[in-house]
Amino acid sequence: MLRTHTDVLVVGGGIIGLAVAWRTAQRGLGVAVLDPDPGHGAAQVAAGMLAPVTELQYGEEPLLRLGMASNARYADFAAELEQASGLPTGYRACGTLAVALDADDRAELQDLYAFHQRLGLTSRWLTGRETRRLEPMLAPSVRGALLVEDDHQVDGRRVGAALLEACRRAGVDLVAARAERLTVEHGRATGAVAEGGRELAADQVVVAAGSRSHLLPGLPEGVLPPVRPVKGQVLRLRIPPVYAPFLSRNVRAVVRGCHIYLVPREDGELVVGATMEELGHDTTVTAGGVYELLRDAHELIPGITELPLVETSAGLRPGSPDNAPLLGPTALDGLVAATGHFRNGVLLAPVTGDLVAEYLAAGRLPELGVPFLPTRFTRTAAQEALR
Ligand code: GLY
Repeated sequence: MLRTHTDVLVVGGGIIGLAVAWRTAQRGLGVAVLDPDPGHGAAQVAAGMLAPVTELQYGEEPLLRLGMASNARYADFAAELEQASGLPTGYRACGTLAVALDADDRAELQDLYAFHQRLGLTSRWLTGRETRRLEPMLAPSVRGALLVEDDHQVDGRRVGAALLEACRRAGVDLVAARAERLTVEHGRATGAVAEGGRELAADQVVVAAGSRSHLLPGLPEGVLPPVRPVKGQVLRLRIPPVYAPFLSRNVRAVVRGCHIYLVPREDGELVVGATMEELGHDTTVTAGGVYELLRDAHELIPGITELPLVETSAGLRPGSPDNAPLLGPTALDGLVAATGHFRNGVLLAPVTGDLVAEYLAAGRLPELGVPFLPTRFTRTAAQEALR
């Protein structure tokens, strides 16, 4: 059976795995990526909001720092990726409006505004009238909004295609097969066996298999990343040129307790997302999911019902116990994690690529990545005994 050896094997070729592979190949290491359909992970469904500030939840300040660092790198990352691949990424510096539809929303958003100010974040409070002056398609009942000028967008599908091409051009070996199992010898990760039997040996193995990262066979107990799939249903509509500019920036709100966001692309696509459902590995698009998204989007922007609906889809976010990613060395020698990005995979691709490539090439995880070490979830033998 064919056996190959490389410096680094990345298991999973979504945008996180490909960003790690590309950056690592740029550091001069030999890299292979193992994935049945490289470039086609959860980012194919994602709206691509780059929203470290408007996605912020109380108590997630370390994640905010990581997200802000990645956001600050995005313009350069996109330009370099476009140059390296010859393909567009759809990066758009457009800003985001977080909108209040009623008095309760307004009170909640004003609390968030105060939180932003305590953290020194740049956001601006707008009255209902100021909000509608910026986005006239919003419902007349809008009570106010937070304007976050630095929360932008990118097209996850285009980023996936561009990363795939950049990897090809950088000499990454793209192995289009499923990982049948990971291999471990003498307490160290040594590679993987691909479906069909090809053995891919490597000095270091990166788990970047998104919402399937916890299902990879072959690893000892306690080493697999504790991720779980969190389903998101998403709609894609088209803005006919006569309606343009329908929206000029990302718009989001919480309607009946559910987050809704609308991401208008420069090419006329309008992405509406997303449900949050814990149903295992189910990616069925349901009538209920589509109904809820349209109902809430319609409440925010009544004119949305005039637009052609061109696609419905569902993807799986890799959720982690603290909503933050797992980056860097694991409890098993030679095994490195780049997974668990939950709602922020597209945003965190640049910083993940940089941090994990630095670890793979230099054996050191930069300070920014330290709060996200996978070992924060690894129970020691003493803790196990107390359970
Ligand atoms: N980042 C938005 C979502 O995961 O739905």
